[in-house]
Amino acid sequence: MSRYITASEYAARRERLFAALPAGSLAIICSNPEVLRNGSDNTFSYRASSDILYLTGFTEANCMLVFDKTGLSGSASSNEHSAGKGQNRFIMFVQPHSPAEEIWHGKRAGVSGAESDFGADRAYKIGSAKMVLSRLAKKAKAIYFKSGVNAKLDAIVTNALADKATGQRDPLAIVAEQRLVKSAAELAIMRRSGQVGSVAHRAAMSHCLAGRSEFALKGVLEFVFATNGGVASYDTIVAAGVNGLCLHYPAGLSTLNNGDMVLIDAGSEIAGYASDISRTFPVSGRFTVAQKELYEVVLASQLAAIAAIKPGVTWGQLEKICEDVLVNGLNSLGFPMGKGGLSMSDVMPHGLGHWLGLDVHDVGKYRQRSQVEAAKSGRSAGKKRGKDVDRPFLEGMVLTIEPGVYLSLTDKRIPEPYRGICIRIEDNIEVTANGAYVQTDAPKSVQEIEEFMDYARNVRAECGDDALGIHIKLED
Ligand code: GLY
Ligand code: MN
Ligand code: MN
Repeated sequence: MSRYITASEYAARRERLFAALPAGSLAIICSNPEVLRNGSDNTFSYRASSDILYLTGFTEANCMLVFDKTGLSGSASSNEHSAGKGQNRFIMFVQPHSPAEEIWHGKRAGVSGAESDFGADRAYKIGSAKMVLSRLAKKAKAIYFKSGVNAKLDAIVTNALADKATGQRDPLAIVAEQRLVKSAAELAIMRRSGQVGSVAHRAAMSHCLAGRSEFALKGVLEFVFATNGGVASYDTIVAAGVNGLCLHYPAGLSTLNNGDMVLIDAGSEIAGYASDISRTFPVSGRFTVAQKELYEVVLASQLAAIAAIKPGVTWGQLEKICEDVLVNGLNSLGFPMGKGGLSMSDVMPHGLGHWLGLDVHDVGKYRQRSQVEAAKSGRSAGKKRGKDVDRPFLEGMVLTIEPGVYLSLTDKRIPEPYRGICIRIEDNIEVTANGAYVQTDAPKSVQEIEEFMDYARNVRAECGDDALGIHIKLED
């Protein structure tokens, strides 16, 4: 259950999955494993798999979801109640109540909670999974199950499926396509996650001072995530100077130095939904001439790509727009872009962006068979035949746009004043009927950043560090 998504929305999501499954089939989805962080008892903080969050809102480990279209409803055991929804029966296997476990790790929903609060037509203890699944598998005409998520649960499932364990289809591929276009409730959460992430970036910008460490800014960002009911949606990146050459550099103990830029790529996760924001700014609060020139090229490429977003547009079109602006801008700064000089991947060794949602790099195909090819062959667009093309954006998709340049200190092809500068600018965009809606809004232009950092400097001078909004908290 989530306070943001209603029980009927979860039920509708499950019905869509049932509708996509053929009659007589059985689909099984396993939870992520818990992973030890150190020693034998302490795990990394558990985060349920996004597919389970999407279909139920259930956040506990050691669980399986089963979508049963085998038509066994009412006959699987004598005391089962009928689902009352034709042949579709949604089953959950969960950890049962256990005072000994719950005193350490917190309350569990248990079997009855899975039925009363998470929409299961029938729930069982996870320990019964092999027995129940074996029975269901015998009748199943097709099995949808993808191993590789959780070795322990995989073993239970493959054991139960016996001779049906091979040649299964992937239920998560169906769910991925459902997840790609967001509902109104999801968009509302994502806007909030974008807001929280943006406030965190403002706080980090205002707490940036030469002599502080990358960790200190990570602490500021994650303080804002936590005080707004969230966590970091991925390992927070705070990269001082050339540390930004490593695209996913995890914040460390390097010191922030005047004269350098700092690249922050950090996002919040609110009710499971990620924001993913990058800002790059000078530690001193003032851009050098070279930093400003380069920054404005990257920013222009980002703004051009965002401005072109609307339903029907494709990633390929945005990449072309972004690349044209970047290449022209860099050429005008004296970079030898093109044949015999620098290629795009020399300066920007990553893509322009990605889908965003419950996963930071969210699910859903980037390419699909063209409608024209599909019509020509008389087959549906989902079937493999002919060439895949970039899929056109639809209203309700959410994506990031994140161009960057990462310039080595030693590459002699790069004009000297720009060497060692790393910049990424990233925002979260919702595709609406009217074009892009930008969910994130931390200071971004050179002027906005310099004014914001000036303001922070003045507040610090007058009132001390505490007045700088580390206690910023958004109201519900
Ligand atoms: N923060 C990861 C990414 O931008 O894709
Ligand atoms: Mn990203
Ligand atoms: Mn990012």
